[in-house]
Amino acid sequence: MHENVIFCYSGTGNCLNLAKNIAKNIGGADIVMMRSKLKVSDVTEAKKVGFVFPCYGGGAPEDVLKYVRMITVNPDAYTFGVCQPAVYKGTGLAELNRIIPLKYWHVVTHHCSCIWLFPHNVMVPFLNKEKAQSRSESMAAQIAADIRNEVVSGKPFRNPLNVLENKIWPAIANIKIKAFSVSDKCISCGQCVKLCPRQNIRMDNGRPKFGTNCAQCLGCLQYCPKNAISIGRITDRREHYHNSEVKAEDLMEDIIHVDG
Ligand SMILES: Cc1cc2nc3c(=O)[nH]c(=O)nc-3n(C[C@H](O)[C@H](O)[C@H](O)COP(=O)(O)O)c2cc1C
Repeated sequence: MHENVIFCYSGTGNCLNLAKNIAKNIGGADIVMMRSKLKVSDVTEAKKVGFVFPCYGGGAPEDVLKYVRMITVNPDAYTFGVCQPAVYKGTGLAELNRIIPLKYWHVVTHHCSCIWLFPHNVMVPFLNKEKAQSRSESMAAQIAADIRNEVVSGKPFRNPLNVLENKIWPAIANIKIKAFSVSDKCISCGQCVKLCPRQNIRMDNGRPKFGTNCAQCLGCLQYCPKNAISIGRITDRREHYHNSEVKAEDLMEDIIHVDG
């Protein structure tokens, strides 16, 4: 493994793109994707270990904390966490910090991937896709400079309102999990099956069939080449979104090596 390792969770590419840009600017890194099977968990040889993930329902995606509990980091390593929400960071970084103490953390907002809740341009500050992307890239360079200099931040704040929001989040997400449907536009390409980080989708008579073990990353819906996947009618009316720099295939990798 590289001496810099970044664990990344990403459904629609914003976080993978951010992780890649941080990796490039810190002199390279191995990015380990937090997908169905974590390919690497012992990173005691790594000098810098980071975590890049989105905010879901006021906290980190459930799988991020599940995987973080399995990871062994050298106590002398420089650790960092970067959250990429649409509006607010929630408690994800604070929860991560309770499992693996972070030396440094940062937040970079980008367009919203939660299509059943908001249109993608709901983000703070309000920026179009191009400006949001170039801001994410320049913030990645600043964050990387901090990481190279081993800047130390204070503890991330654990906001009780976000803790509460994140507690009720699974109940809301479960309603949405039951609302997936596929239209006749489906061309049976099977991309959604390969993309799903929890292997929750299988092909049944040439059509994707959704199980109940959904992480709500929405990669299947947002990357569908024919926009054939819906979660209720509102998602058909909204423009689909995924990060412009990240292809569906990029999200299927387990480990991505980035040169500096
Ligand atoms: C299911 C779901 C829940 C989300 N919840 C929040 C939230 O509580 N607060 C927020 O600011 N953004 C929220 N978002 C927006 C994402 O954090 C944001 O779009 C992020 O950049 C997506 O990263 P990705 O493209 O790497 O998956 C949510 C997105 C999804 C899919």
